[in-house]
Amino acid sequence: MKTVGVSEFGGPEALRVFEMPEPHAGPGQVRIRVHAATVNPGDRYLRNGALGRTSPAPPYVPGMEAAGVVDEIGSDTDTDLRLGDRVMAMANPTTPTGGAYAEYVALPAEQVARAPQGVTHAEAATLPMNGLTARLALDLAGLSQGQTLAVTGAPGAVGGYVTQLAKADGLTVVADASPTDEELVRSFGADIVVPRGADVAQHVLRAVPGGVAGLIDAAVIGSTVVAPAVHDGGVIVTVLGEGSRALSPDEMGRRSLRMRMAFVPDYLGDRSRLDRLRQQAESGELLLRVARTFPAEQAAEAHRLMEAGGIRGRLVLEF
Ligand SMILES: NC(=O)c1ccc[n+]([C@@H]2O[C@H](COP(=O)([O-])OP(=O)(O)OC[C@H]3O[C@@H](n4cnc5c(N)ncnc54)[C@H](OP(=O)(O)O)[C@@H]3O)[C@@H](O)[C@H]2O)c1
Repeated sequence: MKTVGVSEFGGPEALRVFEMPEPHAGPGQVRIRVHAATVNPGDRYLRNGALGRTSPAPPYVPGMEAAGVVDEIGSDTDTDLRLGDRVMAMANPTTPTGGAYAEYVALPAEQVARAPQGVTHAEAATLPMNGLTARLALDLAGLSQGQTLAVTGAPGAVGGYVTQLAKADGLTVVADASPTDEELVRSFGADIVVPRGADVAQHVLRAVPGGVAGLIDAAVIGSTVVAPAVHDGGVIVTVLGEGSRALSPDEMGRRSLRMRMAFVPDYLGDRSRLDRLRQQAESGELLLRVARTFPAEQAAEAHRLMEAGGIRGRLVLEF
């Protein structure tokens, strides 16, 4: 089967196509004939070696989410999925089941859910990992209906889902955006849009005097920069990523803020949450955004574009 990965860690140009043996669905697993795998910012850490060797031997294959069709069901697999079902799945490339940049992946059945009806494979692939990340960040924030949440990176994949899921949860949302992204972020339901940038906290404070109850830093601006936007007793949720720095105990003590870090593998295998995301996509509460699709052979070009930034919607590899 065709996979895309690296034999030597490096920049986008290190990505190549490899012919590999097909995996088969073992006990408790289903195999997906992958048609679409998204390109996420985190994929670069596998490609450039920051995550180390993710399999006993090369190629090292990135990819955290995919969509396709169930084509094998392993023995002793407790699932309502059937051969031929259109599905979406979250993969963890640092586990033996490997990354999603492949024609076939065999995954534990609980990592696989039906795809939303009426969407393309590329659209479905944008939902599982980033949707679960947004859900986890909101769950860690733990705000109640009517409270106000600020979101950075709102035009992005995580920030966009955070904004939409927060609205569905009944929160008031303050989202950041550049002027060109303002309309997009309002289409996610943001109640208040403030200018993005290093002084985003001051803009949030101007819009919500006294500060917000919680902030999810999906732009990875850094806790110290965003902290002034949150009132004492409030919560900041960070996502792992470049530039993220938690407040020191001293800084936290003075502000009595709660700090949480969302790490999406904590929700790996949460089939019921994947099903809920599917329902929310089907009801229109979540918009599935594809910026562009690429043949898998053009993965290097997709990574170059992803690293350049400014992409709205996900880049997707097709297999
Ligand atoms: N912890 C986890 O489990 C987990 C899971 C998923 C993702 N992540 C991390 O979450 C982060 C967001 O991922 P994503 O997929 O949402 O990325 P994305 O789609 O590229 O979105 C990031 C957004 O933040 C904006 N941004 C970048 N720098 C900014 C700044 N200084 N001020 C304001 N906005 C800024 C970007 O705008 P431009 O495009 O204009 O730069 C973009 O709109 C990444 O670091 C990713 O690695 C972590």
